[in-house]
Amino acid sequence: MSDRYAVIGNPVRHSLSPRIHAAFASETGEDIEYERLLGDMEDFNGDVRDFFSCGGCGLNVTVPFKEKAWELVDELSERARLAGAVNTITRLDSGKLLGDNTDGVGLVRDLAENHGFDFTDASLLLLGAGGASRGVILPLLQQQPASLTIANRTAEKAVSLAALFSGCGDVYGCGLHEIGNKQFDLIINATAAGLKGDVPAIPDTCLVSGGWSYDMMYGTEPTAFVRWGEAHNAGRTLDGIGMLVEQAAESFYMWRGVRPHTAAVIQQLG
Ligand code: ATR
Repeated sequence: MSDRYAVIGNPVRHSLSPRIHAAFASETGEDIEYERLLGDMEDFNGDVRDFFSCGGCGLNVTVPFKEKAWELVDELSERARLAGAVNTITRLDSGKLLGDNTDGVGLVRDLAENHGFDFTDASLLLLGAGGASRGVILPLLQQQPASLTIANRTAEKAVSLAALFSGCGDVYGCGLHEIGNKQFDLIINATAAGLKGDVPAIPDTCLVSGGWSYDMMYGTEPTAFVRWGEAHNAGRTLDGIGMLVEQAAESFYMWRGVRPHTAAVIQQLG
């Protein structure tokens, strides 16, 4: 029987993870089954326990359960502990559940390896201070950029988030309105503004000419923040499809010990 994996979310119908993992499995010859699970809003823990007690090997966790998964697992990787959220659960041989977070690695790998972004001396601006933002801070700081500024509509949240990571690099928190005339080499949008087709209220001048913009969201049409980058002389405007595939590849690697190739999958979905 194939090893069982799944993505759990609510809603989950739209999830591209089954397609991505099926492509990885066929490319690497791994014998796995990967399904979608609609998580119960009232009993996420019960759903997870049922999945693993029926022989499941690993779960990807998506909105809105990543924080609940963080609380539920028996052990946490360091990056998941700091992210405050878990997107990958693995059942260990001992039966314990290990929580990891591959989102940040996915973002960094997409930027650095797929697109050749050079973090050396780069000043980074991360927009948003919710779960999506928190999950990528440590991996970004591990690239040793010149600085990372977290800017949020509600300034206090960005300030506390920056304080949480102050031991990991040069990281600052502020309100969107405090960006002023500072300029950045890379701006990453981790806000939920795009859900309504909006862009965070940032100054027109905050991207250096030829700098990069990255929207962690993606869609069939260019997202609002991708369009913002195009309108503000970005050298590259990227959406989050590459990050999505790379975080999946990192989960697949954890589970199967084989690193799948991602380029063809990103191209198919992009
Ligand atoms: P997630 O966990 O998915 O990141 P969240 O915790 O609801 O979601 O956080 C959403 C983020 O998007 C927050 O940083 C939010 O800003 P506030 O903390 O001020 O609420 C940000 N956000 C949502 N809509 C926005 C908008 N229209 N403009 C700017 N920021 C926005």
